[in-house]
Amino acid sequence: MEKLLKVSAIKDGTVIDHIPTKALFKVMKILRLEDCRQMVTFGNNLDSKAMGTKAIIKIANRFFADEEVNKIALVAPHAKLNTIRDYEVVEKKVVETPKEIRGIVRCFNPKCITNAEKITTRFEVLSDKPIAMKCFYCEKITIENEMVFF
Ligand code: CTP
Ligand code: ZN
Repeated sequence: MEKLLKVSAIKDGTVIDHIPTKALFKVMKILRLEDCRQMVTFGNNLDSKAMGTKAIIKIANRFFADEEVNKIALVAPHAKLNTIRDYEVVEKKVVETPKEIRGIVRCFNPKCITNAEKITTRFEVLSDKPIAMKCFYCEKITIENEMVFF
């Protein structure tokens, strides 16, 4: 049987596959795709053997630095990155949780200075599954199911 792609193949760029369906729009936000001038195509609630359902994003003519794309590990820890050149997959990577997170997530502590003033949050990641991250400013630990995104 012919395999028809739900989201068309791209010529050059990046395909981010195996995104949890609930994380699709957070990934878009973390990568600032709303400002991207290139062709961005995506699909959500697609069938996945491994995950049941998944989301996928394809960004034409964009190639991300590791530290840029690793930020999405917070919401899509099993995402796979495929670099496409001239229709071929030339590189495959899995995202890795960064050691340090700047911005993206609020500090869980309501009394933290980052919740009172316009200061970019900054955390040291203590563990990645589930995520636990320690605030650089107040030293309180924010855990995965308490994470609130900006
Ligand atoms: N892809 C694309 N455009 C291309 C080539 C590939 O959009 N020109 C997409 C495919 O649709 C797939 C992903 O990039 O979603 C990875 O491609 P490939 O490695 O061929 O697929 P799989 O073997 O299914 O990948 P996986 O490692 O996830 O099993
Ligand atoms: Zn704090």
